[in-house]
Amino acid sequence: LFFTSLGLAQSQANYDESKVPKFTLPDVLTSFSGNPITNQTEWEENRRREILQFFEKQVYGKVPDRLDEYGFKLLEESNDAYGGKARRKQIAITLKKNKKTITYYMLIYLPKGNPTAPVFLGYNFYGNHTVTADPNVAITKAWVKNNEAFGITDNKASESSRGIRTHRWAIEKMLDNGFGLATIYYGEIDPDKNDFSDGVHSLFYRDGQTKPKTNEWGSISAWAFGLSKAMNYLESDVNISKVFVFGHSRLGKAALWAGATDKRFAGVISNNSGCGGAALSRRQFGETVAQINTSFPHWFADSFLKYDNNERTLPVDQHQLLALIAPRPLYIASAEEDKWADPKGEFLSTYYASSVYGLYGRKGITSKEMPKTNAPIQNTVAYHIRTGIHDVMDYDWENYIKWANTFVK
Ligand code: GCU
Repeated sequence: LFFTSLGLAQSQANYDESKVPKFTLPDVLTSFSGNPITNQTEWEENRRREILQFFEKQVYGKVPDRLDEYGFKLLEESNDAYGGKARRKQIAITLKKNKKTITYYMLIYLPKGNPTAPVFLGYNFYGNHTVTADPNVAITKAWVKNNEAFGITDNKASESSRGIRTHRWAIEKMLDNGFGLATIYYGEIDPDKNDFSDGVHSLFYRDGQTKPKTNEWGSISAWAFGLSKAMNYLESDVNISKVFVFGHSRLGKAALWAGATDKRFAGVISNNSGCGGAALSRRQFGETVAQINTSFPHWFADSFLKYDNNERTLPVDQHQLLALIAPRPLYIASAEEDKWADPKGEFLSTYYASSVYGLYGRKGITSKEMPKTNAPIQNTVAYHIRTGIHDVMDYDWENYIKWANTFVK
C-alpha cells in the first residue's frame, strides 16, 4: 500500500467527536489583558488591532515592506464572450520592488447588461484557462503542479488542461445573476512549494537573504497580498462595483486573510477552508496545526511552528480571524465528506465570531446548533454544509450568489 505523507496523515487523523479535547476558546470580546470590549470603537481601536497583529506576526506572517511600483495593463478585451453575454478582459499586473518584478494575469468576465457589476475575485489552482472552455483565455506560463489526469507534465500547462475546472466556477450562473468573475492563477504570485527562492517573497529580500524572517510572510500571506494588489486594479475599473473575495481550501484560507487585512473587500466567501482557515484549531479534529506545518512548511510564518501540538497556548483561535472581517458579509461553507477540514469546527467559528457582528447591529450565526445538511443559514454571517466531497459545486455558487445579492446595493 502506498501513501503520500499527506495521505498517511489524513488516514491517521482524529475523526472521532468524543476524542475532541475539552478547551476554552479565547473570547473575541475580551482583550489580551482581560478587558471587556463593549462597543465598535473599542473593537476597532484596541481589540481588532491586537488580534490582527497577532495573526500577522505569529500565524500568517507580515508583509515586510511596501512595493516600489505597481502597474497594470489591459492585454486583451472582447465584447463577445459566453455567446455575447459577457465582456472579457485579461489584465497583466506587475509588482516591483528592489528593481525586481513579478507579473501575474487576471481574467475577468463581466455581465453585459449592467454598466457596473459586482464581482467575485478568486484564485484558481491550475491556471485561468482551466476555469472556462473559452479558447481565448491565455495559458499560464508559470510553474504548475503536475497532474496526469489534466495532462500537466514537467510543471507546464498546455491546451490539454483547458476547461478542466469549469465545474468549480459557475460562470454562467454568475453572469445571469448580474455578477462578474475575476480570477488569477495562484502560482503566479507564489508557486505552491517549499521554496522561497521564487515568487513575490523574493522581491523583498535584502542582499544575501534567501527566505523571509521568522515572523514574516509564508505563502498564504503572499497569496492574500496578491489578491489585495488585484483589488488596486479592480477598484479602478469603472465597470466594477463591489468585490467579494472567494477561495476554496488553501485558497479559502488566503481569501480569509485577504479579507481580514484589506477592508476594500466588500465581503468574503471561504469554501472548505479547514485548518488555518475557518476551522477552530483547538478542536484538533482532522488536520491539526502540527500536521499542516509539517505537510506545508511554507504556508505560515515560522513563528507559527511553536503552536504545533500546543494549540491551547494560542492566544487566538480561528473564530477571531473571521471576526476581523466584521461587519462585512462573510460566508463559510463546509462539505459533509470533508472531515479533514472539520465541518463542525468551521461552523463553530462562525458562531463565536458573531458577537462582533452584533456590535454593529448585524446578524451573525445565533445558535451553536449545527444546521442540517443542505439547509443554509444566510445572515450577514452565513454558513452551509452540503452533501459531497471537498470541492466547489453548483450548489455552493447558487447559495453564494443568492446571499451576495442581498448585499450588492
Ligand atoms: C490539503 C491540506 C489542506 C488544504 C487542502 C487544499 O488537504 O491539508 O489544509 O486546505 O489541501 O487546499 O485542497
